[in-house]
Amino acid sequence: MSAPDRYAVIGNPIAHSRSPDIHRWFAEETGQQLQYDRLLAPIDEFPAVLEGLRRDATFRGLNVTVPFKVQAFNFATRHSARALAAGAVNCLKFDDDVVLGDNTDGIGLVNDLQVRLGLVLSGLSVLLLGAGGASRGVLQPLLDAGVSRILMCNRHVGKAQALVLQAADPRLSAIGYAQLDAAECGESNVIINATSIGLGAERLPLPANVLARAQLAYDMVYSARPTAFLQQAHDAGCPLTSDGLGMLIEQAAESFLIWRGVAPQTAPVYRRLRALLDER
Ligand code: ATR
Repeated sequence: MSAPDRYAVIGNPIAHSRSPDIHRWFAEETGQQLQYDRLLAPIDEFPAVLEGLRRDATFRGLNVTVPFKVQAFNFATRHSARALAAGAVNCLKFDDDVVLGDNTDGIGLVNDLQVRLGLVLSGLSVLLLGAGGASRGVLQPLLDAGVSRILMCNRHVGKAQALVLQAADPRLSAIGYAQLDAAECGESNVIINATSIGLGAERLPLPANVLARAQLAYDMVYSARPTAFLQQAHDAGCPLTSDGLGMLIEQAAESFLIWRGVAPQTAPVYRRLRALLDER
């Protein structure tokens, strides 16, 4: 029997990554033979590590996480349209001499919102917090899903304005936190936190009425306890909140599909991983 195809998630830090569990469960469910590991790349040696993996015929693909997604984009020799729109790559596929770079984060978010949370994005208005790589990665997939508007709110408004200019879609506009009043944002149905405030206690300067009027507050990070952003939304009266565990699983499922040509079931993996987090 030949050795199984190998995959890995590569980043720095990486010990916390749940991707090996997720892909192991996908492989079990779909009957695919593969090995999926965590790889820690030294901050300054990412291209050399990638080159070594590419030359290793047993490695067929990688997930790439913080802080290497832009370097992974530069390493890829061919890019999907969504990788080009994101300017970053979280999924590499080694195909003989071709290194295909894709970005499955945005479709992961869209699938989690539409399938698990049952939202119909078409016609909805989105307030997207943050204008870094995480926001850039989800812009185009949200637009493709038919949202009517995306207000991108950032501490440094110029950064949001630059992304809006680049994306060149009339549904996009940039705003600062100081202008977030009900008049401007009363129609935002979904508020998505794509800033890097992460799991800390800091709260964003969001008016309570803006949070209260949204149908859903979504945080791209996940944790066993509500994040500060989700707690803030809940306290303000937002009826539905969700962390980003589903987005993590959906982006993994899209990577699995790219590599193996098989779409795994995500709902059982979501339940299993949520239960694991809750146990801790
Ligand atoms: P990522 O790739 O995770 O998006 P990034 O490119 O460093 O990381 O972007 C971080 C985002 O979080 C930025 O939009 C940043 O706002 P600025 O561009 O104004 O710096 C936002 N961010 C980080 N800390 C923040 C804070 N304390 N309050 C508000 N926004 C914050």
